[in-house]
Amino acid sequence: MTVASPLRRAPRGRPRPAYTRATSGSGTDIQVWRADLRQPEEWVGEAASILAPDERERAARGAPEVHRRRLVARAVLRIALGGALGRPPESIEFVLSPRGKPALPGGEVDFSVSTTGEVCVVAVTGDRPIGVDVEQVVARKGLDRIVATRFAPEEAAAIGALDGDARLRAFYGCWTRKEAYLKATGAGLADPLDRVVVSVGDDRPEILSLGDGDASEWALGTLDLGPEVAGAVAVRSPPEGPLGTVPVRPLPLELR
Ligand SMILES: CC(C)(COP(=O)(O)OP(=O)(O)OC[C@H]1O[C@@H](n2cnc3c(N)ncnc32)[C@H](O)[C@@H]1OP(=O)(O)O)[C@@H](O)C(=O)NCCC(=O)NCCS
Repeated sequence: MTVASPLRRAPRGRPRPAYTRATSGSGTDIQVWRADLRQPEEWVGEAASILAPDERERAARGAPEVHRRRLVARAVLRIALGGALGRPPESIEFVLSPRGKPALPGGEVDFSVSTTGEVCVVAVTGDRPIGVDVEQVVARKGLDRIVATRFAPEEAAAIGALDGDARLRAFYGCWTRKEAYLKATGAGLADPLDRVVVSVGDDRPEILSLGDGDASEWALGTLDLGPEVAGAVAVRSPPEGPLGTVPVRPLPLELR
């Protein structure tokens, strides 16, 4: 399976959309990239120069660690989109939906970004909504309460039947599947979580029912990010059908 580097420039001659080229031969039109938010100080300093002034300003709010993570995450998003579109990362403009989902003004591709700890993941696809979510798999107070009050009864029953690590992973698997869908639609977490009913368990990620939509129009994929991070991607009507486990590639962090 050959996937072009996201930074390869468009070949001379007959123009072909950079996005199509980047995914041709891969058997899917979904790209998922990962990057580490811990980067050398020098790189972080240079990365600031590819952000728009309002992005730099927003990143600068908060503690230094938050500042670095926000700045690097936005640079990673720009690099991934620049590669998919065959454009310099600093030339990309964003528009925001009323609930805050970023998009390209021309809608050439849909994309979604998520961070957890020092992990950043960007998902990009053609002209259909996509959402991605990643979460660190850590035991926290209150997870059982979230399951009882915000998850659907069938999800709560499936998670409740498990113990220990399996239960924790099932919780985060379920959460990331729901959030990936809610980010694909742009609704975000303001929408009730129990209206999106997803499968629990590693084998077959899928949306089982939607309170206000047709679940069969959507596909879910699991991201393999190791035992400490759960991840899911949701996409509407992918031509390839069920997604299973979607490959995640390290993003080459070249700024120019
Ligand atoms: C989107 C949301 C689910 C992200 O949750 P999270 O787990 O904290 O963060 P993640 O790292 O997974 O994702 C953050 C990214 O999601 C994207 N995002 C923000 N709002 C979004 C939305 N409504 N739909 C899809 N993606 C969204 C942004 O790219 C954001 O990155 P940025 O802050 O660097 O711009 C959460 O912030 C949310 O529910 N927002 C909507 C709030 C809302 O409805 N506001 C109403 C205003 S009227």
